[in-house]
Amino acid sequence: MRQMTQDNLKAAFAGESQAHMKYTNFAERAEKDGRPNVARLFHAAAYAERIHASGHLRTLGGIEDTAANLVTAIAGETYEVEEMYPAYKVVADAQGETKALRIMDWALQAEVVHADLYKQAHKAVTEGKDLAAFDIWVCTACGFTMEGEPSDVCPVCGAKREKYRKF
Ligand SMILES: [Fe+2]
Ligand SMILES: [Fe+2]
Repeated sequence: MRQMTQDNLKAAFAGESQAHMKYTNFAERAEKDGRPNVARLFHAAAYAERIHASGHLRTLGGIEDTAANLVTAIAGETYEVEEMYPAYKVVADAQGETKALRIMDWALQAEVVHADLYKQAHKAVTEGKDLAAFDIWVCTACGFTMEGEPSDVCPVCGAKREKYRKF
């Protein structure tokens, strides 16, 4: 693919991905505001943006077989854990941005687990197997992720066990 088109597709992928996420959150807010039809519109548009984002990613050759996708995922999570969030946290701390510092720390702690689980999955897939069928739990308050059984209280944000969603 020609370089400029590739760069443009990457930018469009980022933009559509962000629109998907924004509209999903806007839909939840519209629901809370008692505007279910506005929420429905946001959900529909969010879904359409997701289709566009997926098309851009596919056209960029960004979706490979599962073993290769896991390598990509491990690299992304490892970068976030080892470089991105530690550096971002230093800046947030220096600037006294406590809310930003907290949300970045929540993300970092979840990414550590994501990287580990992706490594386990990569090992299984390269051995010709699927990942073991353990339950995966996500804290709906902070995004912390754990396998097996959630603890009574989220180890990252202190939310109650009922806040955990099973996958
Ligand atoms: Fe992650
Ligand atoms: Fe949490």
